[in-house]
Amino acid sequence: MKQSRKEFLQFLGYTGVSLGTLDLFGALTSAFGSSAARIRGLSSGIAKDEVVTAPGISAQMLISWDDPISKDGTLKFGFNNDYTALIEHSSKGNRAFLWVNHEYPSTLFLGTRSKSKSMQDIEKEMKSVGGSFIEIKKNKKGQWKVLKNSLANFRMDGLSKIPFAYGQKIEGVDYAIGTFANCAGGQTPWGTILTCEENYHDYYGERKEGSREILPGDLGWASKESYPPEHYGWVVEVDPKTKAGVKHISLGRFAHESATVTRAKNGNVVVYSGDDKAGECLYKFVSNHPDSFESGTLYVASLAQKKWIPLDLSKTKALGPHFKNQTDIYTYTRKAAHLAGGTALDRPEDIEIIPGTAQVLIALTNNTKKNNYFGSILKVMEDGDDAASLSFTHDTFIAGGEATGFACPDNLAFDPKGNLWFTTDISGSKMNKEPYASFGNNGLFVVMKEGEHKGKAIQMASAPFDAEFTGPTFTKDGKTLFLSVQHPGENSKSLSELTSHWPEGGNAIPKPSVITLQGPVLEAITS
Ligand code: FEO
Ligand code: CA
Ligand code: CA
Repeated sequence: MKQSRKEFLQFLGYTGVSLGTLDLFGALTSAFGSSAARIRGLSSGIAKDEVVTAPGISAQMLISWDDPISKDGTLKFGFNNDYTALIEHSSKGNRAFLWVNHEYPSTLFLGTRSKSKSMQDIEKEMKSVGGSFIEIKKNKKGQWKVLKNSLANFRMDGLSKIPFAYGQKIEGVDYAIGTFANCAGGQTPWGTILTCEENYHDYYGERKEGSREILPGDLGWASKESYPPEHYGWVVEVDPKTKAGVKHISLGRFAHESATVTRAKNGNVVVYSGDDKAGECLYKFVSNHPDSFESGTLYVASLAQKKWIPLDLSKTKALGPHFKNQTDIYTYTRKAAHLAGGTALDRPEDIEIIPGTAQVLIALTNNTKKNNYFGSILKVMEDGDDAASLSFTHDTFIAGGEATGFACPDNLAFDPKGNLWFTTDISGSKMNKEPYASFGNNGLFVVMKEGEHKGKAIQMASAPFDAEFTGPTFTKDGKTLFLSVQHPGENSKSLSELTSHWPEGGNAIPKPSVITLQGPVLEAITS
């Protein structure tokens, strides 16, 4: 008999505990001892203006929007933090660098909401996006703190000059001004970070299909200085050593959600990427090299044919009449993908590889136009267990809905034990309303790899009002989970009608922030 969600939660022994009301770490350690910590999920439907954590897990603040990250205070942490990438650089595991994406500004909270934005307003928005690179240190209490005076710290933003990789010109020039809409990303085996430009059309607009006309972006940056839409929508590779980036043409141009790197059997790198829009496709780039994206082939997935179709002028005949050269295919990847027979998916967002395999999990967040409200996680199993394979089988790993207790999966992360963690992205305007009412605020879930709860989604944290958790990243020892809290209070109509005051409370405006989760139950699951 199928166990209902309510029964399942009763079985888990739910106790809802709010952050700040109880010393969970101390309570759980003394009650159970850290090695015997019991795993209890949260109840469904939590709707509080707090980060609520499951018993045995506690949350600490790491950094918030506008916090200084340089000695002179001129560098500031950006807005709407998303993807995080961790580079641990001490053998003791107590020093690290953290890259954090900044996806988009809020005109309300930045104070730039105006029908006629000034140059200063636009510049303020430009400086709020891109990414932050910060050095962090674990103190004696085991809590991570930002080293705000570290000379390693830097920002990339909407004003950074970023060359296109490998000397190719796009719209007549070989560099772009700015990176923005930085959603999820990836890390390369050679120590660089990939940051993905997702909804780039909001900034300098997008070309009207089949014409040179530009449909303006909501943020209206072109009124300051206009740049071609074709300069955005790429994967940017950031080298923390040089504090500089390049935009990769060969990985294609679309609303890149993520860029997840793995190795093929021959050692060459392979990058998977989703295009976060209903009806868009799943891609992979198979490099010809083990240590660069210099040359290779971009493919789109056909689930019907169970094949990867090359978006290559010389290999896929259907593309010939529509594109003048390969750069043109990379620049208008969506058009090429559909002409080639790529499968339209329900918002492919984040991607993770099941550790030690060539099996790929892809979050399909939802597609309300097709009455898919709750989304699912797709599993693509490469033939021959080789990421470079041209064929695959596929299945649904887990689907959202009342029975599984979550809706709209988005960001994915594996802990060191191989359990899958994911965050949900019910849009702020639909949260706590039908058909999402029973799910409450967005959450963080774990799907256990083994044991009695194997394969079930258990909620471990709940986000403040209007927010989504993004960018989950574990330390190598599994003892800390870095987690972004993005867009709290996003539905506020004005500064006097705020829907969230997180994290400061009182009458404060909400601030996107990165937090850390720790505690005996987290450790019991992850290490
Ligand atoms: Fe930026 Fe698709 O979330
Ligand atoms: Ca996302
Ligand atoms: Ca999302």
